Amino acid sequence: MCGLIGYIGNNAVASTLLSGLKNLEYRGYDSAGIALNDNNMIDVFKAKGKLENLKNLLETQSAKLGSSHIGIGHIRWATHGKATTENAHPHLSNDGKLVLVHNGIIENYQELRRQLQAEGFVFHSETDTETAVHLIDREYKKSHSLEQAVISAVKLLRGAFAFCIMHQDEPDKIIAVRKNAPLIIGIGNNENYIASDIPAIIGKVSGIIHLADNELAIVRQDSVEVKKLSGEPVIKPIEKIEFSPDVISKLGYKHFMLKEINEQPNILRQCLAAHIPAVDQPVSLDECTISLDFTKIKNISIIACGTSLHAAAFAQNLWEEWLHLPVHIEAASEYIYKHNLTDENSLVIGISQSGETADTITAVKQAQEKGAQLLLLTNRTDSSITRYSENVIPLNAGIEVSVAATKSYTAQLAALYWFGLYWAEQISSLSQGQLQAIKQSLLELPALAEEVLSHSADIKALADKLKNYHNFVYMARGINLTCALEGALKLKEISYINANAYAAGELKHGPIALLDENMPVMAILGSGITLSKMISNCAEAKARNAPLIAVASEKEDLPLDLFDYLIKIPGASHGIFPILANLPLQLLAYYIADGLGREVDQPRNLAKSVTVE
Ligand code: F6R
Repeated sequence: MCGLIGYIGNNAVASTLLSGLKNLEYRGYDSAGIALNDNNMIDVFKAKGKLENLKNLLETQSAKLGSSHIGIGHIRWATHGKATTENAHPHLSNDGKLVLVHNGIIENYQELRRQLQAEGFVFHSETDTETAVHLIDREYKKSHSLEQAVISAVKLLRGAFAFCIMHQDEPDKIIAVRKNAPLIIGIGNNENYIASDIPAIIGKVSGIIHLADNELAIVRQDSVEVKKLSGEPVIKPIEKIEFSPDVISKLGYKHFMLKEINEQPNILRQCLAAHIPAVDQPVSLDECTISLDFTKIKNISIIACGTSLHAAAFAQNLWEEWLHLPVHIEAASEYIYKHNLTDENSLVIGISQSGETADTITAVKQAQEKGAQLLLLTNRTDSSITRYSENVIPLNAGIEVSVAATKSYTAQLAALYWFGLYWAEQISSLSQGQLQAIKQSLLELPALAEEVLSHSADIKALADKLKNYHNFVYMARGINLTCALEGALKLKEISYINANAYAAGELKHGPIALLDENMPVMAILGSGITLSKMISNCAEAKARNAPLIAVASEKEDLPLDLFDYLIKIPGASHGIFPILANLPLQLLAYYIADGLGREVDQPRNLAKSVTVE
């Protein structure tokens, strides 16, 4: 949610900033801007809308871009103030000498704004960010030191922030500072970078420094000094970037989403190789650092948002059966308002692909304060959420670039699956026979996922038939409901088609009134005890003329004439079926959105890392 970049070195600054921002576009695309410090003055260039608009603007300004060695840039997801050029970052001080970019929210901005206006500062935008510029500028006028001014000013700010700040009179440095928002320093060869995330600098630096909260970095071309806000120096390790530069390449796919969907069989393969060594061997924790007192746990709460919340619902279904413990799931944004009964007998699990979701972090913090044991699942072990517990399960799905989560969801399901089994082993809640049967079906999953994805041409053809409907109903029962919820979310977020998921048994209590020939129903059938009732629900939908599509196991004997279209999944056991059934639903959403000409990787109004509550 907003992306920052800073660069100091001998490369062409504007194009270096632009290429970094290009790889941060998943964080927002409402506007973009850069500022260059060319010793004599700060030049700011901003454009509303996508980065492409800024690029076009810069092409008309080439004469002004040449002489600078230092600059900062920003890509915005609008919070305070509409997506206009005035509200775009970088923001300038009134004397035009101090400039900054910001990710986060300054919660006390209104009170600060009033105070600064009373002192004579003139505001040109509606943003919370502009208060920070004037505040630092005010402090600069007192100390004539950018470092001192930043230290004094940020102590007055409440909320979350990562800033890159430059001053015309100190053209040898960029100051970076953070609190509750991500920021890294990239160490290059006689050049240095600052960025919100690794994709902006991957392949350009030899190592990175993770800035911690309330730390400030003074970044020069040939040095990086890190200090606490008290002024005390901090020695930071320079870490290697673990990701391959392939993460920022589409590798021939039209969109990152399609590339990431197709990565899923291998992600599953690697995950299972690490944790399920063989059917007759115990589950391995591999490189996870987990130390939980299972004997103390009387209840489990799983908190997450969006797609990660759907993964939580999957775990709830499996674990209540396997562990015989109550599992509550809660949208992180709601957890904090509940008079919940979390205490030292609870295990609270936070699931977050990005590890930066503000709602989830706040909820995890609250659970920690209540004395619960904590476990975190994240795709980014370098993210903010990992500060709250040593117990971390890395999802190892690789950086997910497309805004819509696909491969990280599958990695979450796999992680929740093996961890549930590990726990069942620890407390002996499943027999050896049960454990072996479950592990056997889990080990078959990667090959089955490959097979499902090999039918993508059929799904594309189906998408073509369905893309002009305006509304969809997804329905399922039991553990497959998570799949209906996720399938509907995928469709609506990237195609902007209204899609709602229901427990199939609930349809007759109201939503069935919606059904007619213009409302396709997607039924996720599964196997076992829910199947016969699902078939009845399908018949009810068909009787109302709804076009009926089903995802079903190929081993089931189904009344084929009931369905307008059947997506067959290779025979798979309970628990495995929803992982596989999700794959054609991802593809369907993708091909519908692409067929409608949507910007699949960057759907409107969304951003990948939701760092505001
Ligand atoms: C949907 C999607 C979002 C995220 C949600 C939580 O495709 O990506 O619903 O799942 O914003 O994000 P994380 O998992 O990063 O906390």
